[in-house]
Amino acid sequence: MDKLRKANIYIDENRIPREKLPVFHVTPPCGWMNDPNGFSAYQGKVHLFYQFHPYSEIWGPMHWGHYETKDFIKWIELPVALAPDQTYDEAGCFSGSGIETENGHLLVYTGVMEKEADKEKVTYQNQCLALGDGKKYTKLEQNPVITGEMLPEHFSREHFRDPKIWKENDGYYMVVGNKTDQGVPQVVLFHSEDAIKWNYVSVLASDRDGMLGTMWECPDFFYLDEEYILITSPQDLCATEEFHNGNNSVYYMGKYDKKQHVFHYERVYSLDDGFDFYAPQTMLAPDGRRIMIGWMQSWDSNIRPADQKWSCMMTIPRELHIEQGRILQNPVREIENYHRNAVCYQNKEISGNCQMEDIHGRVLDMTVEIVLGDFHQFTISFAQNERYHTDFTIQKDSKMIEMNRTYSGMVRDAAAIRKSKIKTSTDKLQLRLILDKYSAEIFLNDGQQVFSSTFYTPLEADGIRFICDGKAVVNIEKYEIVVD
Ligand code: FRU
Repeated sequence: MDKLRKANIYIDENRIPREKLPVFHVTPPCGWMNDPNGFSAYQGKVHLFYQFHPYSEIWGPMHWGHYETKDFIKWIELPVALAPDQTYDEAGCFSGSGIETENGHLLVYTGVMEKEADKEKVTYQNQCLALGDGKKYTKLEQNPVITGEMLPEHFSREHFRDPKIWKENDGYYMVVGNKTDQGVPQVVLFHSEDAIKWNYVSVLASDRDGMLGTMWECPDFFYLDEEYILITSPQDLCATEEFHNGNNSVYYMGKYDKKQHVFHYERVYSLDDGFDFYAPQTMLAPDGRRIMIGWMQSWDSNIRPADQKWSCMMTIPRELHIEQGRILQNPVREIENYHRNAVCYQNKEISGNCQMEDIHGRVLDMTVEIVLGDFHQFTISFAQNERYHTDFTIQKDSKMIEMNRTYSGMVRDAAAIRKSKIKTSTDKLQLRLILDKYSAEIFLNDGQQVFSSTFYTPLEADGIRFICDGKAVVNIEKYEIVVD
């Protein structure tokens, strides 16, 4: 049986009941999900594909799963779009992107193949195309359209993946993650007039200081609020004040020399300081908004319960803007259409351990603004009952945030506490907490800093507590999120 059909039949027989899954975060229908792929608009709808292994809860030969949406909140599952069924992609259809063209919806992905040479397996990663109508996609006969042979000498043919395509006046451009044979991570740029025949252009950016890991995965390059932004997901970082250990997702700001096609970055920042955020991808929505979605999972610490038959999820899509030289991220405004049962408190005094009768739940959108504070520590403790809790703590004197999921019920010896500097530019303290059963995304000070994390606490733990070692005066606005 062909691999696409086989995957679709398997999914139909093993689909996880809707009520077991998060309410508005994209998950696989069964099995394993990683990076967002092909996030793009086509004929007025938004499409999201993703790295998908339907057959087990761990990574395996990569397919592209597929969803569409009209509002980034309610997602419709569509048949699997790509399966690793050709010689040039038989080891996997790796990450890539999508774009609307005159000929249809074009997907660009990395075809991975393995060859035996001197009794050793050698991996090749090449860029391939598939064209579709929003439901069904056909791989092009010309595949692979970009091979490692088109790269300059001493650039890796083994680590050459994750193409992101966009269009300009003079044709199509594509950035791809790569590294040199000496191990320097870089992003390479290609150009094409028809999106099929491509030419190598330049190294758009590379790790000139040797500080940013071993390989830059999932590059994205775009213009936003009069700045050029490069995003990559570098592997294997050592922690600094800005970055945490392991794989991070970062953005670079600087100057783009459009003639030489070189991006001279001056500053690099982390995109998210939670436990679980990787491989984000952005799209330009039909109304002009730049929207980013990320994989809400870390490669190194998956704490999914062993009996859960689905693995991993995406973040809520986020609107991006630039203010004071930094990216601001905020949940797409469409979430507000699903707000129900408002609860508001004005100038509420919090001191010691406080619980409000009408503030609880595991699927919600809550903003807490600290208007006056005389304290060292202020904690929001959620997914909480006598046995469990996950805590987000502001340590005011040291200007630190601590995320703590030690008591979330996790049974893996994985990262449970993460600390980060408060990096926002104002003294104000405002937190927006988006909860969806097994995840928390916290947007600090209008999205100047974000913390995304998963936790798999039993759902009956739905309490929320505020803990303050002094006195805080807060305004709270809380909504349940109901998606039918
Ligand atoms: C990032 C990544 C990509 C690759 C994909 C494979 O998480 O490693 O570089 O294309 O996952 O599933």
